[in-house]
Amino acid sequence: MNIEQLQQKIKELKEQLNVTIVAHYYQKDEVFDIADLTGDSLELAKKAKESESEWILFCGVGFMGQSVKVLAPHKRVAMPKIACCAMARMIDSSYFDASVKAMEDAGIPREDILPITYINSGADVKAKVGKMGGAVCTSSSAVKIIEKAMQSGKKILFVPDRCLGQNVARMMGLKSVVIGIDEPKKIKEADIICYNGFCSVHQLFTLKDVEFFRKRYPGIKIAVHPECDPSVCEAADFVGSTSQIIKYVQSLDPEQKVAVGTEYNLVHRLRDKNTYVLSSTKPECPTMNETTLEDVYNTLQEIQKGNPINEIHVDRDTVKWAKIALDRMFEYVEAK
Ligand code: 13P
Ligand code: SF4
Repeated sequence: MNIEQLQQKIKELKEQLNVTIVAHYYQKDEVFDIADLTGDSLELAKKAKESESEWILFCGVGFMGQSVKVLAPHKRVAMPKIACCAMARMIDSSYFDASVKAMEDAGIPREDILPITYINSGADVKAKVGKMGGAVCTSSSAVKIIEKAMQSGKKILFVPDRCLGQNVARMMGLKSVVIGIDEPKKIKEADIICYNGFCSVHQLFTLKDVEFFRKRYPGIKIAVHPECDPSVCEAADFVGSTSQIIKYVQSLDPEQKVAVGTEYNLVHRLRDKNTYVLSSTKPECPTMNETTLEDVYNTLQEIQKGNPINEIHVDRDTVKWAKIALDRMFEYVEAK
C-alpha cells in the first residue's frame, strides 16, 4: 500500500470506529495530514478532552496522551507509539521531592514553595504538583500561570524545563536560578527556582546560529520556541509556542525572511519560500518521529478487534491529583 492508500484506509476505519485522531505539529507529514485535531500542547489537551468520541488516538509523545487520560478519565486513549519526550523523562516524583528538599535546605520552608510543572512531565510529577497546590503550564500559558502563581507570594519551583523557567523569569523581570548549576546560596534570593531539565532538540539552536542568519540575511526575523536557551530567546524577534510561531510566521509579509528555531517537521511545513531552519543540523525530535502511518493503522485495527494496544492507563490517585494541577492551568488561563 502506498501512503495515500494507507491514509484512505485509516480514514475509513477511524470513521467506522468513531475514533478521533489527534496529532502534534511535530508529527511526520503523512501522520499529521490524517489528524482530526492539531495544535500546540494546550490546544490539544483542551480539544481532545472536549471531543465527543469514546476513543482518542494520540499521535505525539507520552505525556500528551497521558494528559488527555487524566483530564477525561472516562475516555479511552491509545497511542500508535508510546514515545516518551526526553525532557519529561528527566524528572520523576523522587527527583521532584529532591528539588523541594534542595529548596528547604536553602532555607525556604515547604509551605512557602509553590510548584509549577511544564506539561512535558509524567502524571506522577503533575500529581505531586497538584498536591502541593501548584499547577501545570504549557509554553503558551507559562507567563499567565507564573503571573498567577506569583500572586501567592511564594517561591516558584519550576520543573522540568530550566530554559522555559529562565525565559519566563526574564520576560517578567523576575530572578531565576537553576538547581545544580547555580550556587545553592542563590536559591533563597530567587523568585523562580528551576529544575535542571532541558530539551535536547531545542538545545541545538545557538546564539551563533542567530548571529549567522542575521549577518547572512540582513533584516531577517528570528522566531523561536521558549525551550531554546535564554541567550537565543533574548536575541530572537519572537518567542512562542508551536501554534504561536505558526501564527507569527503567517502574519509576516511573504517576502520577509524568517529563521525558525523549533522542530523540523513544523518548520518545513510553514511556507514555501523565505523560511529557514535556525540550525545547520536538522532539528528532529526522535520520539515525535517514531510514530508512523503503519502504527496508526495497526492501532486502529487492534481497537476494531477489541484488543487495543498501547492504551494509556493512569491509577486513580494519580489521576485525581494530576487533574487538579491540569484543571488549575485551564482555570488560570481562562481567568480574566
Ligand atoms: P507546544 O506546547 O509549543 O506545542 O510545545 C510542545 C513541545 O514539546 C515543544 O517541544
Ligand atoms: Fe520533548 Fe523536546 Fe521532543 Fe518537545 S521537542 S517532545 S520537549 S524532546
